[in-house]
Amino acid sequence: MATQSWHVINGAKHYPVLYREVLAFYNTFYPQYWEQRDSGRRRKTNYFYLADGTFGGGNHSKLLLNQFKQMKIAGYDLDPSMIEKAEKNFEDEIYSQKRLQLVNDNFINIETYDTRPPRKFNSIFLDLGFSQYQVADQDRGFSYLSDGYLDMRYAPDRHAEGSTAADILNKCTHYELVEIFKRYDPHAEKIAEAICDARERSIINTASDLKNVLFDVFPGLARSQKYNKIMKVFMALRISVNNELIVLDEYLYKNPVLGMAKNGSMVIISFHSTEDQVVAKHFRRWKKLKYGQEVFKKVLTPSKEELEENPASRSAKMRVFMKEFD
Ligand SMILES: C[S@@+](CC[C@H](N)C(=O)[O-])C[C@H]1O[C@@H](n2cnc3c(N)ncnc32)[C@H](O)[C@@H]1O
Repeated sequence: MATQSWHVINGAKHYPVLYREVLAFYNTFYPQYWEQRDSGRRRKTNYFYLADGTFGGGNHSKLLLNQFKQMKIAGYDLDPSMIEKAEKNFEDEIYSQKRLQLVNDNFINIETYDTRPPRKFNSIFLDLGFSQYQVADQDRGFSYLSDGYLDMRYAPDRHAEGSTAADILNKCTHYELVEIFKRYDPHAEKIAEAICDARERSIINTASDLKNVLFDVFPGLARSQKYNKIMKVFMALRISVNNELIVLDEYLYKNPVLGMAKNGSMVIISFHSTEDQVVAKHFRRWKKLKYGQEVFKKVLTPSKEELEENPASRSAKMRVFMKEFD
C-alpha cells in the first residue's frame, strides 16, 4: 500500500502505524468471519464488530473496512474536529454501506453507547496518542515547530475548563513540573527550574516560547538541531494535559475484555514505554484472572520496511490480548 493514499487533513498525512501487522492479525485470527460464502439462499451476514477507540483520520479503519467486508466499526475520538472531518471522508461507509458509526467521546466511555446492537464487540482497537493532523493544526500547540498557543487538549470544547499546556507551565509548582517531566527526561529538575525562571520574566504562551526556554537550558540543542529532547518535553506535557496514562489505566482497570464476544481481542498500539508498561501490566493481570492471554509472545514493533517509510514509528509497540484464547 502506497503511503500517498492516507487521508490528507489540515494539509498533513498520517501514516497508520503497524498497519500490516494489524491487518494480518485480524486476517489470521478471525477467518470464520471473512470466509462466509453466499450460499444462494438469503443468509444473514455474521458481522464482526470492531470499536476503533482512537479513530483520528480513520486510516486504520479505512484499511480494515476495505479488506474485511464483514466488519462494522464504531469509531470514537475525543477530538471533535477529527470526528467532523471523518463524517465527510467516510460518507459512503456511514450512510450507504452503514458499516461505520462515529462518536465524539473518550474511549473510556465506549461501553455506554449503543453502537453495536445486538452483539458484543469482537475487538477493541486503540492507537494511542495524537495524529499528524493535530500536529499540523498550528493553533493547537502540539508541535515545537508551530508558533501556536500551547493548548494541547484533544477536546477543547468538551473540557473548556480543563488546563491547557500553557496553564500547566505558568501555574504548576516546581515540584509538579518535575513530576510531569521526570518519566521522559533525566533533566526534569533543570527543565522545571528554567520554566519557573522564565515565567517570572514573562508568561509562557506559545510553542516557540517553550522551545526558546529549552534552548536556553540546553544551548547545544539549537546548534546540533537534535530536537528529540524538545519533542519529549512536548510529549510529556501533552500526556499530562490529557491525563493520557490515567485514562488508559482507568479504562483497562474496568476490564473491557470481559464485555466482549468469545475470542474478543484488545489490540493496543503505544508509543512510549510508559504507555506500554500500563498495557503490559493489565494484560498480565487479565491473564492471572484467567480472562485469556496475550496472542504474541513478543511485543510487535515496526518492520524494516515500515521504518523506512515512516521513521517516526520507531517507538511503536503493539500488544494483543485475546479473551478465552484457545
Ligand atoms: C494516533 S491517532 C489515531 C490515528 C488513526 N489510527 C489513523 O490511522 O488515522 C490517536 C487519536 O486518538 C484520539 N484520542 C486520544 N486519546 C483519546 C481518548 N482517550 N479517547 C478517544 N480518543 C482519543 C486523538 O484525538 C487522535 O485523533
